[in-house]
Parts: sequence; C-alpha cells; structure tokens
Amino acid sequence: MDPTGRICGVTGAASGIGLALVDELLSSGAAHVAMMDFDGEGLRTALAKRERYSSRLSTYQVNVGSEPQIKAALQKIENEIGPIDIFFSNAGISRSGGVDASDEDWLDSWDVNVMAHIYAARFLVPKMSERKKGHLVQTASAAGLLSVLGAAPYAVTKHAAVALSEWMAITYRPLGISVSCICPQGVRTPMLFPELKKGTSDFSNTLADTVAQSAVTSAGTVLEPGDVARIAIQGIKDDKFLILPHPEVAGFMVKKASDIETWLSQMIRISEKLSGALQDPLR
Ligand SMILES: NC(=O)c1ccc[n+]([C@@H]2O[C@H](COP(=O)([O-])OP(=O)(O)OC[C@H]3O[C@@H](n4cnc5c(N)ncnc54)[C@H](O)[C@@H]3O)[C@@H](O)[C@H]2O)c1
Repeated sequence: MDPTGRICGVTGAASGIGLALVDELLSSGAAHVAMMDFDGEGLRTALAKRERYSSRLSTYQVNVGSEPQIKAALQKIENEIGPIDIFFSNAGISRSGGVDASDEDWLDSWDVNVMAHIYAARFLVPKMSERKKGHLVQTASAAGLLSVLGAAPYAVTKHAAVALSEWMAITYRPLGISVSCICPQGVRTPMLFPELKKGTSDFSNTLADTVAQSAVTSAGTVLEPGDVARIAIQGIKDDKFLILPHPEVAGFMVKKASDIETWLSQMIRISEKLSGALQDPLR
C-alpha cells in the first residue's frame, strides 16, 4: 500500500528503526503518523524535533505487551484521527542468554516480540477486513529466519513473529489485508549499540551481550535505521511480504534450507570462534 494520504501507526516509534519509519512515512506523504512507545520522554523529544510536522503527528505512551493498553491507544487513534490504514508493529526487545535466561526474560520477550503483534492484529483485522483494506507490518528479524548466537529468547520469539506474519499473510490477504514482515540483520540503533541511547545506564532492551552483539556485527553490513526504513516503505508500496534490508540474508536462508547439517556446522564453528575470541582477545 502506498502511504501517501494514509493514516499510519508505528510502535517503538521513539527510537531506531521505528523513528526512521516515522520520518520516511512523513516524507512519503502519509496523512498522519501515530507514534507509540512506552518511552514517554523519547516520544516527547522525537516530537519536539519534528515540530514542523506536528499537525501530522500524535504520540501515545503505551506498553505494547499489554492488550488493554494497545487496544485503548488504537481505539483512541481510530476515534480521534481516523481508520488506521498501515500499522507497523515494530517495538521489540532483546534478551540474551540461553535456556538459563530467567523466566522473566523469556516472558517479556514473548509479550513484546510476539503477543504485541497478536494484540494489535486482534483489534485491527476485523476493522480492516470490514473496510477491505489495510496493511499490517511486523518488524521481526533475520534472527527469526536464521538464528542469533548468544540470545535464545530473541532468536525463538523472532521465529515465532515470522511464523505469525506468514500465517496472517496466508489468512488475511484474501480479506483485502496485506501483511509484510521486515527482517533486518544488524542496524545501528540502541538495541545493538546501547551507547547510542544518551542519558541512560539501563541497557536492558539491548543486544549488548558481547556474543550476540559480535555475532550480529560480524555477520555483515550494519545498516543505518534510515536505510532500513527506506527499503521497508518501498517493500510496502510494492506489497512485498518478506522485506530483507540485508539482501545477503536470502542467500543464508537458501543455505539453511538446502543443507541444514552444513549450515549448523558453520554456525557452531562461528559460535566457538566468537566465544573463544571474547574470552581470550589475543586468540
Ligand atoms: N537493531 C538491530 O540490529 C535489529 C535487527 C533486526 C531486527 N530489529 C528489530 O527492530 C525493531 C526495532 O528495534 P530497534 O533496533 O529500532 O531498537 P531500539 O531499541 O532503538 O527501539 C526499540 C523501541 O521499542 C520501544 N519498546 C520496547 N519495548 C516496548 C514496549 N513494551 N512497549 C512499547 N514500546 C516498547 C523502546 O522504548 C524503543 O523506543 C525491534 O523489533 C527489533 O527486534 C533490530
């Protein structure tokens, strides 16, 4: 769907890819962009920097992992601004560790990286199908197609997000609702580089764990959020399902699907090399 003249919603809009999506939507001629995030101060700062667009922007402080909160925010947008045409379910968190990660980290990852997409779709699908138009976009990750070293809660919940997007594309496209899934690899945002978030020592949303961070940054080019947003909006205009800002990810998917034993052996070798190098930087 072309965003020109459309009402759009973006979660995780106070930072990184979400904020870049807001800017790209504004410059693509979106009629209105509703910015949602649980970081109220981040939203205020982002809005203040976009004063000249203030009539086309609104902000909502919301925890997307809470169904009552996301439902209330979406209802407010539909009442006060109008029907949402394109919804970017983009907010995400990264928790590192393996099966030993705490239940809290597993469940928070589940809530934000998976259930948030379900809560938004549960509200929007009946409205969009009645209007026979709408576009639902989920930001998953290349970690949901391949894996990511050192961060099991992230890898697993992003796989679930991709599975959900696929299922929704199959089921809802016949109802007139487009579905897209954005799967970036490394992107220069506070999630991957916590030092980019000024004035905080709380790095709990981040992929800052050294193994996970090294794995992502050594896997290929680290893109700027603006690059990801441009590629994503073009993909949405072209009605593409899978949007891969890093084209090499398609090649990795082919390798994984055609010979998973070799792919696993290569991943194990990279994992051992990275863990070894991080324990002994001289190796
Ligand atoms: N940065 C990368 O390398 C990378 C790679 C692949 C996928 N992604 C995905 O891109 C999306 C955006 O991440 P980013 O890199 O821009 O990170 P970011 O940390 O810069 O932005 C994430 C935003 O989501 C918000 N958020 C987190 N939990 C929330 C909640 N419960 N409710 C509302 N808002 C919440 C944060 O406040 C923040 O503003 C995420 O889904 C992430 O998993 C990022």
